[in-house]
Amino acid sequence: MISPHMGLAMHEPNSLILGIESSCDDTAVALVARDGTVAAALTQSQAEIHAQYGGVYPELASRAHAAEIIPTIRQTLAQIDSGPEHVRAIAVTRGPGLIGPLLVGLNAAEGLGLGWSKPVIGVNHLRGHLRSTELDGGTITYPAIVLLASGGHTLMAYMKDAKTVEILGGTRDDSVGEAYDKVARMLGLGYPGGPAVDKLAKTCAPDITFPRPMIREGLEFSFSGLKSAVARLVERDPDVDKPTVAASFVAAAMDVLAAKCARALGEREAASLVVVGGVSASPQLRERTAEVCAEAGVDLALPSLKWSTDNGAMIALAGWDYLDMGLAPHLKPATRLSIEQF
Ligand code: KG4
Ligand code: ZN
Repeated sequence: MISPHMGLAMHEPNSLILGIESSCDDTAVALVARDGTVAAALTQSQAEIHAQYGGVYPELASRAHAAEIIPTIRQTLAQIDSGPEHVRAIAVTRGPGLIGPLLVGLNAAEGLGLGWSKPVIGVNHLRGHLRSTELDGGTITYPAIVLLASGGHTLMAYMKDAKTVEILGGTRDDSVGEAYDKVARMLGLGYPGGPAVDKLAKTCAPDITFPRPMIREGLEFSFSGLKSAVARLVERDPDVDKPTVAASFVAAAMDVLAAKCARALGEREAASLVVVGGVSASPQLRERTAEVCAEAGVDLALPSLKWSTDNGAMIALAGWDYLDMGLAPHLKPATRLSIEQF
């Protein structure tokens, strides 16, 4: 599936960063101005390829990235009749992620950089998510509490300014997105699971009480107990009402995420709550965090829906930061990378 983004008409030379994201299952490319304006963007999703496995199949992901990356870059440039003359630099995800898919992106970026004589910047994918709320005009007021909830990560962080990230708590086991994807698989809802579980959850009341792991303690997360509780129930009773399971799972996950956000805002002086990562596309999470923010009297910063899940635009915008900070290119792939790193 290719989803074109409406581009702008005129661009100055060297005014855009070309962002390339291929850390997981989306081949995504975008052209972004320094102020976060997205001039062009295209995401080639691999969801159909991985659906039959209920999760990402790394070797197939690498092959699909290799087939799609150059056409996706070409089509993104074509959206605004652009060529290398508009490109100031190329920003590419160097991690965290799957090694094969990361290498495809890095190789494509390095090849283009050589051919076009443009700098190439390796970007931490998580730093990209952090910048996603500022694409197309959003702003963050600092200091900020951050909830990053994706397929690969779930963490709370404190940002005293745009550059400094301090982790307050991570997950001890699964990420919340992973729990969504596994529950979707148990309920036969396909991959990716988040949107399907959310949709089904909205159709009924959360009548089953699932555990809310670590809800009363600290700022760390744990989602494997919740996932296992759903698995045990579905195994015991294959005829269980799926919408009720979905609604009850979502209610438990949301209670935990909302409680952690409220606790972090209570513990640290902050002007806003920033919610990013694929799970920030969840309408339930959007609603619950808005309530938490109203209660705490802080602003809520969310990415627009199209920049919630993985995309090239957030990598390009983070690339501008790296360029401004004069950071070394960092072109080594890193399957593991903390949000505190660059
Ligand atoms: O940020 P992302 O696109 O990729 C990673 O960096 O991991 O996040 C993907 C995760 C998947 O687990 C997916 O199920 C979840 O985000 N997700 C959602 C929704 N849309 C995507 N979870 C809940 N509700 C959604 N609407
Ligand atoms: Zn991501």
